[in-house]
Amino acid sequence: MQFCLDKHGEWVAILTNSDNKEDEEGGDGFFGKKNEKHLKKIAKILAETTTWLDMLNDTQRNVQFQRAIENSLESIELESKKNSESGNSDYLNVFDVGSGTGLLSLFAARAAVEKTLHIYSCEMYLPVFLVGERVVRDNVREKRIPETRSIKMFHKRSEDVSVIGKHELDLLISELLDSSLLGEGWLLVLKDAFQRELLRKNHFRIVPSKAKISVQLLTASSSVLDVDLKKGRSGLFGDTITSDGYSRLDVQCHFDSLEKRGRIRAISKRIQVFEIDFTSDKNWGRTESVHVSCKSGLSSLDIDEINAVVMFWEIDLDGTGTSFLNTFSRADGNNNQNYRRHWRQVIAPLESPIPLSATKEIPLRIDTRIADDYLAFDVKVSSEGDNTMKLKKRIERHKEIVAKATIQKTLTKQMRLYIALANIPEFWSSRAPLGVDVCGLNLTKANALLCTKSVESNREGYCYQSFKSDLLDELGHRYSMTEEETSMILWETCVPFVNDVDGKEKGEEEVFEEEFKKKKKFHIDVDAGCEITANHVVFLFSENHNCANKWRTQPVSVARMDRQLTGKKFRIIASNFHAEEGECIRVLKK
Ligand SMILES: C[S@@+](CC[C@H](N)C(=O)[O-])C[C@H]1O[C@@H](n2cnc3c(N)ncnc32)[C@H](O)[C@@H]1O
Repeated sequence: MQFCLDKHGEWVAILTNSDNKEDEEGGDGFFGKKNEKHLKKIAKILAETTTWLDMLNDTQRNVQFQRAIENSLESIELESKKNSESGNSDYLNVFDVGSGTGLLSLFAARAAVEKTLHIYSCEMYLPVFLVGERVVRDNVREKRIPETRSIKMFHKRSEDVSVIGKHELDLLISELLDSSLLGEGWLLVLKDAFQRELLRKNHFRIVPSKAKISVQLLTASSSVLDVDLKKGRSGLFGDTITSDGYSRLDVQCHFDSLEKRGRIRAISKRIQVFEIDFTSDKNWGRTESVHVSCKSGLSSLDIDEINAVVMFWEIDLDGTGTSFLNTFSRADGNNNQNYRRHWRQVIAPLESPIPLSATKEIPLRIDTRIADDYLAFDVKVSSEGDNTMKLKKRIERHKEIVAKATIQKTLTKQMRLYIALANIPEFWSSRAPLGVDVCGLNLTKANALLCTKSVESNREGYCYQSFKSDLLDELGHRYSMTEEETSMILWETCVPFVNDVDGKEKGEEEVFEEEFKKKKKFHIDVDAGCEITANHVVFLFSENHNCANKWRTQPVSVARMDRQLTGKKFRIIASNFHAEEGECIRVLKK
């Protein structure tokens, strides 16, 4: 089998030969020896750009879905027995949309029901579909599912699966939930299923069944809201601000981490703004309003404003209130929540910030709009009075003053590079290989596609800031979980690096460009004082002369070294900004 990238950046098969034997080692199928190079290429892209491994390693997610699917099938069986619906009472039909590795289909196949189960599953992304086939084959061979259960797998989009006829479905299962809830098109899948009248039996169920959406009003720093409001952060999903002024969810983050590092400040508690029942509520495309009032938490001398909302969702998986998943922050009691890269909180920046007063509650209206594949928010002062206008003017004046001061400051800015060596043992847990017991199922075959060495260097020993924001986020998240920062950062040093190019004084540009060229590489010899073990390099640029205790609050970059070093003395070789990828930082034991 041969693959190439299509114009949408999707891998597609251009030559298929899907005989199972050829897939095995030595064959020329997708997973065979002859396709090894292609497979590695796809694996690298998937491992670096998606959150698949993190998602499949999320035990809480897997267990709750398993429970909800089993509960639903058991109650469907009970109800269908009671009602004995026309002619089809000896079997149940399940449709798994976006089956991926086949996990949810396998959960359904293992449910303790007497009836025969016909499970139809579809996956539109070919490499993942092929993995799903292999995983299901393994689990059938190993008799992890009863022989009477059949799983029919289709490499198709859900709307193209036509074998399921009208009124036939008993259970629709799917996990198309992304951090922003609707971005993967769950509502579009439901719309299609209802339009085709697949779900007309009295007892039909849908997993996930219900969702609640809540928000917190925020003051976010400009580094968090570093978004082109016209184009959106990625430019892929349309404008961040809709033509009628609604803000779409745009910036994924770990709320706890940002709050702890002082980059966002919550102005309100979490407020529930929307509730949706996927089984009965077909009135999508509506807007709901909630009224609240807010006061600044700062003293009256400080300027305060709401410039963003952060969104959290909570899912009731089978609609019975027994299996929940959510993206709440620690403040909501999610203390034991493991690091999750695949489900984070998402921020929507507001087009016009709302000024707040420390002495007076400002009445606000939060409008939440639900569209086919996105959620959007608008926050307005309920009654714009004189005071608000005055405050607005004060904010503008304040901003002007701050802008002037910033210009002044950058003229004298000296940038320094701070480097630290860190030992972060459990760092890659969310990308750990899948085992033979993921809720009792064998998912090891998925590793061939999903698990690869996540950071690779072009030259031996060099590492670079791959996964910058993710690593930073994960570090930040862990900082927010523990006070024991010292166990992460074992040693640090600082080296003056280069002046800020924009802040140069006249005539200095040449000097620093010269420096750049001369010092293509900086050698820094360090003595940690005692024997340490390090597997990551943490670095940040700062104008601050003493960053020793600022790792928590500064945005840092983290690079994983391709080996773990233990020793006392090290040499760090740092290349300049223009170094080629993979040549950024190298640590050697002396
Ligand atoms: C978040 S993954 C979930 C995989 C798996 N169900 C699980 O829970 O482990 C969603 C998968 O659905 C697929 N997908 C999304 N929309 C789809 C559609 N309309 N039809 C078929 N597959 C779809 C994506 O390609 C992706 O592989």
